[in-house]
Amino acid sequence: MASKQTAPIMNQGQGETSYAHNSSIQNAEQNKMKSLIEAVVVELCSNTGTLQPGKMVIVDLGCSTGPNALALVSIAVEAIHAHCLQFQQPSPEVSVLLNDLPENDFNTVVKSLVTLRQSNDPVVVTGITPGSFYERLFTSESVHLVCSSNSLHWLSKAPEDLKTNLIPAYDIDEHSRHERLPIVLEAYAKQYRKDFTLFLKLRAKELVSGGRMIISLLGRRSDIIATKFPFLPEIVAQILCVMVSEGVIDKEKFDSFYA
Ligand SMILES: C[S@@+](CC[C@H](N)C(=O)[O-])C[C@H]1O[C@@H](n2cnc3c(N)ncnc32)[C@H](O)[C@@H]1O
Repeated sequence: MASKQTAPIMNQGQGETSYAHNSSIQNAEQNKMKSLIEAVVVELCSNTGTLQPGKMVIVDLGCSTGPNALALVSIAVEAIHAHCLQFQQPSPEVSVLLNDLPENDFNTVVKSLVTLRQSNDPVVVTGITPGSFYERLFTSESVHLVCSSNSLHWLSKAPEDLKTNLIPAYDIDEHSRHERLPIVLEAYAKQYRKDFTLFLKLRAKELVSGGRMIISLLGRRSDIIATKFPFLPEIVAQILCVMVSEGVIDKEKFDSFYA
């Protein structure tokens, strides 16, 4: 989603419609990252050069709220514990930092962070780093492991080319929609290339030499040409169109909605 114009935060709290209670699909994606995180932790713990002087900083970018916020960093902390136990190695001191946009519901996250701090053998200190991952978040060469799941497909903003030329992402008129699809796709791809390049440059400054990143995000294979509107499930877009035709949603507002 474009992050600035659309107040893109996940539903806060613990209620029925909260992200905390509606993120099991994302959690399944996180579980697929478990073995990768464990392997990387072993590499980091075995590389005394990288770990000097026995400290490790682990961050999660776009942590959101609810149980998923701590899932990846918890896997990493447990893997450190297991590795050090197995090889009778002293555990490094671990600093866990969770990031999301400032509007995120960090209240719930903070409470679970305290639990993570108390329940682990390696010394674990925790913190919140609010801000956009399209900006500098950490000091230079301070981070050993960057994790991020289901977040990096969010753009920093709506694609400029579409906004400037008033081209809706999903034209209600079917003919115009199909005709403009290549323009819409390229505009999103261009914004993504720009954002992701910036993201890599920023993290390159923040990672220690030999540091690692494990990132999972939504995507599609580049050799599959999209024939359908690829940004919202078609069904959601169609429902929104009906709401426009019934006057529930203003057409101008719908046309300026860039997911
Ligand atoms: C779908 S949630 C994923 C949460 C969690 N990582 C998971 O896997 O369930 C995406 C999160 O990315 C955050 N996000 C989007 N753009 C961001 C940005 N530029 N900087 C930091 N966080 C961002 C959103 O606020 C949201 O909480």
